[in-house]
Amino acid sequence: MSRKTFSSASRLALIVIGFLAVFGGGPASAAVEDEIKARIQHPAEVCVMGTPCAASIVLASVNTGPKDPQMVYETFCFACHGSGVNNSPVYGNVEAWAPRIAKGMDALYESAINGFNNNAMPAKGLCADCSPDDIKATVDYLVKAAQPAP
Ligand code: HEC
Repeated sequence: MSRKTFSSASRLALIVIGFLAVFGGGPASAAVEDEIKARIQHPAEVCVMGTPCAASIVLASVNTGPKDPQMVYETFCFACHGSGVNNSPVYGNVEAWAPRIAKGMDALYESAINGFNNNAMPAKGLCADCSPDDIKATVDYLVKAAQPAP
């Protein structure tokens, strides 16, 4: 093998490697780029808690198994119970919750699951995808936050 031939052979090898890097890597990079775009899509949207877009993110990500009560509260109940909309008992307000708690947990579960006072308290607090157990756990969460200091 002459020196000249060897060097053309290595040049050819370099061209082949270059070809693979450009054309072999092309489609793979596009797929990776799509995946990254898909991953950053949701956080890039501006969503306010309690609005339908926030609800759809929760439903999309947590549609199987029990839901986290704090997340259900923040996504649905907070819209009213965070500030007392329509005289709803405010989260953590001991006086506002005391007469409710006095009715007993079963009564509160019933109100939250099926709605209360002509749906001033809407059924399931508008969490359509919540199971009765999810709502009970969220009522527990609200009641726990409204216990009088020992
Ligand atoms: C659209 C506003 C709204 C949303 C959303 C909402 N609530 Fe309510 N809720 C109310 C109002 C108003 C009342 C008070 C009703 C009354 O006593 O007239 C109430 C009362 C309650 C009560 C007391 C019921 C009783 O029998 O005294 C519970 C428990 C409760 N809500 C739980 C929840 C839970 C859990 C969620 C979320 C899953 C939720 N609420 C979401 C408005 C809301």
